[in-house]
Amino acid sequence: MSQQRSSWKSNMGFLLAAIGSAIGLGNIWRFSYMAHQHGGGAFLVPYLVALIVAGAPIMIIEYGLGHREKGSSPLSFVRINRKFECLGWWMPVVAMFGIMLYYSVIIGWCINYFFYSFNLSWGTDTQGFFFNQFLQLSDSAAELGGIRISIGAATLFVWVLCWLICYRDIRHGIEKASVIFMPILFLLTIILVLWSISLEGASDAIFNHYLHADWSKINLFAADPVVRSEAGKVWAAAFGQIFFTLSLGFGIMITYASYLPRKTDIGKNAFITCLVNCFYSFLAGFAVFGIVGFMAHSQGVPFEDAIKGGPQLAFVVYPQAISLLPGMNVLFGVLFFLMLIIAGLTSGISLVEAFACAITDKFDWPRGKVVTAVCVAGFCGSLVFTTRAGLYLLDIADHFITNYGLVAGGLLECIIIGWILKASVLRKHVSRLGTVIPPLWDVLVKFITPAVLIYLLYLSLVADLAENYSGYPTDQLILFGVGWLLVCFVLALALTFVPWKPEKLQRRHQPEEDDLLV
Ligand code: PHE
Repeated sequence: MSQQRSSWKSNMGFLLAAIGSAIGLGNIWRFSYMAHQHGGGAFLVPYLVALIVAGAPIMIIEYGLGHREKGSSPLSFVRINRKFECLGWWMPVVAMFGIMLYYSVIIGWCINYFFYSFNLSWGTDTQGFFFNQFLQLSDSAAELGGIRISIGAATLFVWVLCWLICYRDIRHGIEKASVIFMPILFLLTIILVLWSISLEGASDAIFNHYLHADWSKINLFAADPVVRSEAGKVWAAAFGQIFFTLSLGFGIMITYASYLPRKTDIGKNAFITCLVNCFYSFLAGFAVFGIVGFMAHSQGVPFEDAIKGGPQLAFVVYPQAISLLPGMNVLFGVLFFLMLIIAGLTSGISLVEAFACAITDKFDWPRGKVVTAVCVAGFCGSLVFTTRAGLYLLDIADHFITNYGLVAGGLLECIIIGWILKASVLRKHVSRLGTVIPPLWDVLVKFITPAVLIYLLYLSLVADLAENYSGYPTDQLILFGVGWLLVCFVLALALTFVPWKPEKLQRRHQPEEDDLLV
C-alpha cells in the first residue's frame, strides 16, 4: 500500500524547520572561533564568497531536486537515473550514522550542563571538571572504559524527544516543533547577545578581535608562498563551514523540500534560509566574543589565552565566564544551555527525518514504526560516544565525516545535477515557480562549485597525509575515521540493492505540469 505523502501546513513552517536544521551548534561555537582564527572580520569575505559560490547554489539544487522529484534523497536520485541511487543513500546514511550518533551525545552534554547551571556545579576549575569529572576522559580512543551513566541518560532523553517529534507526519511533528522552538531560540539568542555585549571588556573583544580585519590572512595573491598557502587554508575552511552550517550534502533539504506543495517559490526560500542562517552566526559571534572578552578582562589575561574552539568553548570557557558574572549567573547559564539544546535538537530531528523518510520511501513501511526503529538503533549506536573515550571518537568521526563525507556528497550532487540531469533543467524548474535563477547558476553548479570542492578535498587529504589529525595514532584514525566512512558506504550500498516497488519510480506529477501552474 502506498501512503499519501504529507505536506507542510505553511511555507513559514517549512522555512522555520529548514532554518532550524541549518542553525545548530556549529553556528554558535564553530563560526565565531573560525572567524577569530582566520583573520577576524576579514574571514567574512571568504565566508560570503563561499555562501554565494557554493552555499546558495547547492541549497537551490537540494530544494529544487526534492520539490521536482517529490522524494527523499534516494528516491529523488533514482528518479533521475538508477545508477545514482547509491549517492542518494550515502547522504542520509552519513547524516544518521556519521553525524547524528554523536550530535545527540553533544546535546546530551548540554542537557547535563543545563542542570549543572542551577548551582554552578562546575566550580572554579571548569577544564578539570569537564575532562576529569564529567567526561572522565580515558587516555586514548582505544580505551573505551564503560558508559558514563549521566551522559547515557541524557542521550536517551534526546532520542526520546526526537522520536516524539518525528513520529507523527511532517506537519504535526517537525513543523509544529519548529514553530514552537525557533521563536524561542531567536529570543534566547537576542537576550544573550544583548547581555554579553553589555559586559565590561566585551566591546574591546568585539572590535579588536571579532570585527578587526587581518586582510593578510585571506590574501591568495600574496608574494610570500607561505602566506599564500595559509590563505588557501582559510578559504577552504570558509567553504567547509558554509557546507556544514547550511546542512548541505546530507539530503536533509531534499527531504524537507519534498513535502512542499507544487506551487512554491523555491529560489526565495533558498535565499531566506541562507541569509537567516548566516546572519544568525554573525550575531551569535557577538555573544561569544562579548563574554570571552569579559572573562579575559576580569581575569586580566590576553584575549588569545581566554578563547578556545569547539566543545571547549561551550563546556570550559562559558562555564568559567558564567561563574565570573557579577550577577544572575544561574539565569545566564540556564538560558545559554537551553539555547544550545534547542539549536541542537532542531538540527537533530532533521538528521533523523532525512534517514527515516528515505527508509519509508523505499520500503513503504508505516512512518511511526520506521521512526521508532531508527531512534532505537540510533540510541544504541550513540552509546559508543557516551563512553569515557567518547570525546576522542567524536572528534575523529567528525573530522572525517565533515571533511570527506560531506564534501564528497556535495561534489557528486553538483556533478549529477549539473551534468546528468542538466543544470538548466533544474534551473528552469525552479525559475518557473517564482524567483528567476540566472543562467550563471549553471556555470557555478557545473564548473566552479565542483572545482572548489575538489580543491577542498585535495587540501584535506594533503593535510591528513602530511600529519596525523590532532596527533592521534594512525591505527585509531583508520579504525574510527576511515572505518566509519567505509561502514556508511557499505550500508548505503546494501540499501541500494534492495529493489524498489515499480510504482515508486513513477513521478506523481510530470515536472512539465508545473508550466500549467503559472
Ligand atoms: N547545520 C548544523 C550546525 O551548524 C549542523 C548540522 C549539520 C545539522 C548537518 C544537521 C545536519 O550546527
